[in-house]
Amino acid sequence: MNSFFITTPIYYVNARPHLGHAYTTVVADAMARYHKLLGEDVLFLTGTDEHGDKIVQAAEKEGKTPKEFVDGISASFQALWPELHIANDRFVRTTDAHHIATVQAFLQRVYDAGDIYFGEFGGHYCYGCERFYTEKELENGLCPQHLTKPEYISEKNYFFRMSKYLPWLKQYILDNSDFIRPERYRAEVLAMLESGALEDLCISRPKNRLTWGIELPFDSEYVCYVWFDALINYISALGWPDGRDYEKFWPGEHLVAKDILKPHAVFWPAMLKSAGLRLYHHLNVHGYWLVRDTKMSKSLGNVVEPRAMSNIYGTDAFRYFLLREMHFGSDASFSEEALVSRINADLANDLGNLFSRVLSMTAKYFGSRVPRPKDLQTDDTAIAELCAVSMHNFIQLFGNVQFAQGLESLWELVRALNKYVDMQAPWRLAKQGNMERLATVMYVLLTAMRKTALCLWPVMPSASVNMLKQLGQVADQNQAPVVQLEAEVGNLDGLAPGTIVASVSNIFPRIDVKSGDQKKPKGMQQEGQGTQSKRKSSMCEVPVPPKSAKGEVDFAQFTGLDIRVGTVKKAEKHPNADRILRLEVDFGEGVTRQILSGLAEYYTPEALLGKRVCAVLNLAPRKIRGLVSYGMVLTASGDSQFSLLGVDRDVPDGSEIA
Ligand code: MSP
Repeated sequence: MNSFFITTPIYYVNARPHLGHAYTTVVADAMARYHKLLGEDVLFLTGTDEHGDKIVQAAEKEGKTPKEFVDGISASFQALWPELHIANDRFVRTTDAHHIATVQAFLQRVYDAGDIYFGEFGGHYCYGCERFYTEKELENGLCPQHLTKPEYISEKNYFFRMSKYLPWLKQYILDNSDFIRPERYRAEVLAMLESGALEDLCISRPKNRLTWGIELPFDSEYVCYVWFDALINYISALGWPDGRDYEKFWPGEHLVAKDILKPHAVFWPAMLKSAGLRLYHHLNVHGYWLVRDTKMSKSLGNVVEPRAMSNIYGTDAFRYFLLREMHFGSDASFSEEALVSRINADLANDLGNLFSRVLSMTAKYFGSRVPRPKDLQTDDTAIAELCAVSMHNFIQLFGNVQFAQGLESLWELVRALNKYVDMQAPWRLAKQGNMERLATVMYVLLTAMRKTALCLWPVMPSASVNMLKQLGQVADQNQAPVVQLEAEVGNLDGLAPGTIVASVSNIFPRIDVKSGDQKKPKGMQQEGQGTQSKRKSSMCEVPVPPKSAKGEVDFAQFTGLDIRVGTVKKAEKHPNADRILRLEVDFGEGVTRQILSGLAEYYTPEALLGKRVCAVLNLAPRKIRGLVSYGMVLTASGDSQFSLLGVDRDVPDGSEIA
């Protein structure tokens, strides 16, 4: 079985996760899932970069020790990823003992190879970049990244003989045209190598200036330069030098943005070469997300919060937008308007509409069973061919990190399927009693929809699972559908006649731009002839219910609530409050969550053990008599009756209630 190893940068813990971090990690997740779908053995690594000056400064600002500080922010990265349906296999922290030992072993190896020397050095140090700049690299005497004046520092340090490897590296990049991709970044690196500005790399910091780092194995007065330490995460997480995962998964694929091109394209290959290790397969470099064409920054107050976007618009829609909107390699501009218009155009109008129309017609004409097709006509074979071409292109483009183009190719099929419905007009065939032709048309649609849903598993895992289930398929958000994706291309097989499918579908409701409110997808009103007017009149006859005593909330407020299903793992009485029980509930977050609830009058702690409950997770934590509650369990109460809200199917812990 082929193996596939994908990494993201390990993120600095001096800031909370934002749109940029979310993008890279969503892309890595989509790549990991895509390779799983191709039947490969996949390992997906992300993590946090926790050493260096920046961290010390950020911790000081908050009055914390570096360790307390890094633990808090690293946890916030780890907690966010599952919320974005990101399923990384490993999470590496550069403060992990294992990572530290690996960095020291690597340093020793490079030292023993004679590639590290001690020397006096004066250089222009930028605290923002945590690195020295040569005279040539500065722009008008300023750091080219931060546009600030670096400090001139002269001190004795250890150096890595990077310059020794630069001619070899240049030749390697010339010989391997996609080692760094897309091409513009390869050209940038070649220009860097030709400029002569690159020298040996200073890889130590004296402890009198910085202690928050990994001690050099050959000099306890120094710690390791943060970049030399951080890059090694890609192999420390695999158990280098003799871990089985290292054997199996190295070399891998790296995914980074253009800001950290140089360390990945120059330092890291030189380090690997010096230590006698193989180079990674590809460095995949993407552009920057801008917000209304401006750089995201705390001071401008325009930092986009991925959690808020996914809560308001849905995780899958957000992931789709990120992958569809940015052409990998170029910068892209983020705005909620652009997000809403993609959701409405591609997801509600095109994909949601297709599912809604076809499933309701299958219910109406075939009792929600996949009909058996008869002979295919030219229009049907045209769809079959388009389906093959779209899928083929999707697979090729996705594998080539051209996600936007891959999705566009799939949407050519989705739009063609909607047109095919309009042209074939199943409602007319039904009226004419032409059931054979009707069966063929519906079969063509349903099988092509299944293939579309399969391709979308890497992009929108939860929606893909919903679509597949609606088509009577077994599917799991965390387990790649058991198919051979490449074998799915070029046929209309895969959906057995007789399979029972859902009768309604409302996967991507349309978002009303004015109120932020959601309406039914257009497709709900278009499924067949006559239904629209019937629905209208029946809607008018429905009595208007009284207004809720609590007033109205708008849709965004409602979808902003994070309500989930969990299992009670522990229950006991609150030590200081008779009516309150202290629960530890598993919501699939990796740790259980403490929730305090006024249930003691209605349930004994024993009766709650193992119970499935529903709870709001994003209420601000509340302290009750000395203990903190991180959520609220939902209950129904009337007169003297009282009941916990549960679920009537065995959905996994962490399932969202929406
Ligand atoms: N710790 C280093 C990486 C070490 S890897 C061995 C670092 N961390 S970082 O927190 O600054 O993360 C940088 C990465 O975050 C970028 O390369 C990119 O993956 C992501 N992004 C941060 N801001 C971004 C945008 N505005 N747009 C897109 N991605 C960006 O550098």
